Amino acid sequence: MYTRILGTGGYLPQTVRTNADLEKMVDTSDEWIVERTGIRERRIAGPDDTAATMGAKAAAIAIKTAGLEPSQIGAVICATTSSKNAFPSSACEIAGILGISDVPAFDVAAACAGFSYAYAMAHSMILSSMCDNVLVVGADLMAEACDPSDRTTIILFGDGAGAVVLGKSDEQGTLAVKLSSDPSFAPLLKLPFPSRDGSDAGHSYLYMKGNDVFRHAVVVLSRLVTQTLEMGGISPSDLDFLVPHQANLRIIAATARRLGLDMSQVIVTLDRQGNTSSASVPLALDEGIRSGRIKRGDMLLLESFGGGFAWGSALVRY
Ligand code: UT7
Repeated sequence: MYTRILGTGGYLPQTVRTNADLEKMVDTSDEWIVERTGIRERRIAGPDDTAATMGAKAAAIAIKTAGLEPSQIGAVICATTSSKNAFPSSACEIAGILGISDVPAFDVAAACAGFSYAYAMAHSMILSSMCDNVLVVGADLMAEACDPSDRTTIILFGDGAGAVVLGKSDEQGTLAVKLSSDPSFAPLLKLPFPSRDGSDAGHSYLYMKGNDVFRHAVVVLSRLVTQTLEMGGISPSDLDFLVPHQANLRIIAATARRLGLDMSQVIVTLDRQGNTSSASVPLALDEGIRSGRIKRGDMLLLESFGGGFAWGSALVRY
């Protein structure tokens, strides 16, 4: 028994925040942002957008593309660290919006690596015969978690949601999944909950020691992609596409170089979407498929890295 990607979907809020908009907010420039990150614009959630509403929109498309009805979904997993409520989980809310009931539904919190974790959970649930089709959503609103006056973070993040339906299959789809973490780097990338005593006036913002995170991300991802290919018994030359977490174009390019891939074999969305945290990999996958670049039978390597530190990957024949 194997697991295979049956369908994908994505949702982006309408409001666009360009680098020119950011020049009016903080001391920065389009030139600096493009050169250091590759980002040109990102989408910002509207007042009615939540992780659950955005996730449900992406999920509805993924279920439709899979050729399934919501009633055929056997579990809902939502990777997010920006749920509106601690509970009900965004996964339960998504199930409610889509009319899915009487199935397991839960959120996974692994920051920007969340989608890899959720995908691995779905893969394991199917292989252990718990269910046949799992809806895996990555949805985050990280722009509002950034201090609007902090030029080191506000330029990076955008909002959005992506979704995948992973299903039981006779054909081999998922060849390997790998997850890991290292808590010793926790202080470099943090998003505390607002304090209960009001000492932070209700604001708690994302903190990142950018250049340290950058250095570790490059090293960890380089090791991760090599390990994942070894687990799947695949050599880099067998890969068709890298579908990376969209944090920084220079990190993505370093990972591609490590694999000997040309940038034409890398799905890049961050120029228009910024870093959408747990939504970035499923959004990139969906764009790659919808644009016709990724075709059935292609060998894909999905990877992500973020706060915790936590990281993960999936080697997938689409
Ligand atoms: O998704 C989760 C994982 N996250 C990541 O993987 C993100 C990893 N980090 C990064 O992508 C990069 O480190 C950043 C894009 C955040 C920063 O780029 P950098 O090349 O590492 O810059 P830096 O932090 O070393 O800062 C270089 C200079 C500093 O000025 P001085 O001290 O050299 O005078 C900063 O103050 O750039 C300055 N700077 C800015 N200048 C203009 C920092 N932010 C900005 C800005 N505009 N927005």
